Amino acid sequence: MEQNTINDYLNKNKQRFLDELFELLRIPSVSADSNRKNDMLSTAEKIKQRFTEAGADNVEVCPTEGIPVVYAEKIIDKNKPTILVYGHYDVQPADPLELWDSPPFEPVIKKTALHPDGAIFARGSCDDKGQMYMHVKAFELMMKTSTLPCNVKFMIEGEEEVGSPSLGNWVKTNKEKLKADIILISDTSILSNDTPSIDIGLRGLSYMEIELTGPNRDLHSGVYGGGVANPINILCKLIASCHDENNHITIPGFYDKVITETDIYRKELSSAPFNESDYKKDLNVSELWGEKGYNTIERTGIRPTLDVNGIWGGYTGEGAKTVLPSKAFAKVSMRLVPNQNSDEIGHLFKKHFESIAPKSVKINVTFHHGGEPVVVSTNSIGYKAASKALEQSFGKKPVITRGGGSIPIVALFKDVLGLDSMLLGFGLDTDALHSPNEHYGLFNYYKGIETIPLFYKHFCDLSTQK
Ligand code: BES
Ligand code: MN
Ligand code: MN
Repeated sequence: MEQNTINDYLNKNKQRFLDELFELLRIPSVSADSNRKNDMLSTAEKIKQRFTEAGADNVEVCPTEGIPVVYAEKIIDKNKPTILVYGHYDVQPADPLELWDSPPFEPVIKKTALHPDGAIFARGSCDDKGQMYMHVKAFELMMKTSTLPCNVKFMIEGEEEVGSPSLGNWVKTNKEKLKADIILISDTSILSNDTPSIDIGLRGLSYMEIELTGPNRDLHSGVYGGGVANPINILCKLIASCHDENNHITIPGFYDKVITETDIYRKELSSAPFNESDYKKDLNVSELWGEKGYNTIERTGIRPTLDVNGIWGGYTGEGAKTVLPSKAFAKVSMRLVPNQNSDEIGHLFKKHFESIAPKSVKINVTFHHGGEPVVVSTNSIGYKAASKALEQSFGKKPVITRGGGSIPIVALFKDVLGLDSMLLGFGLDTDALHSPNEHYGLFNYYKGIETIPLFYKHFCDLSTQK
């Protein structure tokens, strides 16, 4: 009966739920771009308005040292459990713009092979405005159908894509306000629209920058070439030496603390449906790459990595300029797994690069931001509630995955608030998050709105049975 009321409400309001999301997607809330401060604020204000309309209390745009956090709550009974929902309203920069088939901040619906019912194409549609907004609409739905079974609090931040620099302090100063039983996050992926899955892990991150300086100025590459070290040549060599012939990372001590997963666990993870040829086809690569002894699921989930994110120096303009550059730069990210620590790995990286750099160049290695890996227990009430909710809405029991991305603030929630997080994401890895033509399936958007109230219900039931 209750389920019918909920589905009726969803069906009647489908178009409006989509229109409201479109309105958010039209605001270019790019946290990395300091010229977008006003857009950040108007996004926060819009979300605040929507929470208020849905019936939330104490709705606030809370100032932080950086971009504000939107807070909202509904406390129905102090003796009932409280779910704290986290999401982010900031998005990645949209460039390179020329690679988008439609403008990134003008959402449109188009069909794709994996989204035959249509997908919303816009920056942030999947990561994370679309997934965050499912929670606002699921909340409205529970309020308007009088089916909210427990207390709920929301914190929607605007700095996730730049490493959440202000959120840690904000959380520390608002511990009381954020008291809850669990954190619920939709900012990860499911395996496919017919294979629901629960991502029980996030990798940690150490993000580094290297600057190599050779001669004190750019030189004529004919006059000086061959006699003076070229910092770009050297940087390439140093970076290439970071992987051995088995694609293991060569930084001393890098694997010392890595947890070796059991064969049973590896088997369970690898039993998830994965089609290697589809994967290659989607990326248009003829061969996959990775650490010897592990398959693709493991390489991207339970194993640490090192990747150059950007490398530059010298002349990159039109045509040719003969120059032996003075400087070379690279940005390097390392994805970490339990029990690696982002500071420790950052230090090992710095020490290693300083030790292998030849005397012909000066080296400067700096640490950008980091975050710790997280694994969620499958024995928790949160996991059981998520599993039941997905089984009900998809008609299939979810499988376990370990996603390769990072949400660094999740480890901090555990440290500061003592709370576990449940990752109940609905995106697909192929939805082009952070890439041109990011999209989010209409199926996924509505399925999320349908599943979230089920999570609340099961979480509340299981908590009170305790
Ligand atoms: N939502 C992603 C993380 C994610 C995506 C996890 C898909 C699992 C599956 C998040 O917004 C993100 O992009 N995080 C960054 C880290 C951050 C410090 C910039 C990342 O993983 O690169
Ligand atoms: Mn995200
Ligand atoms: Mn992201």
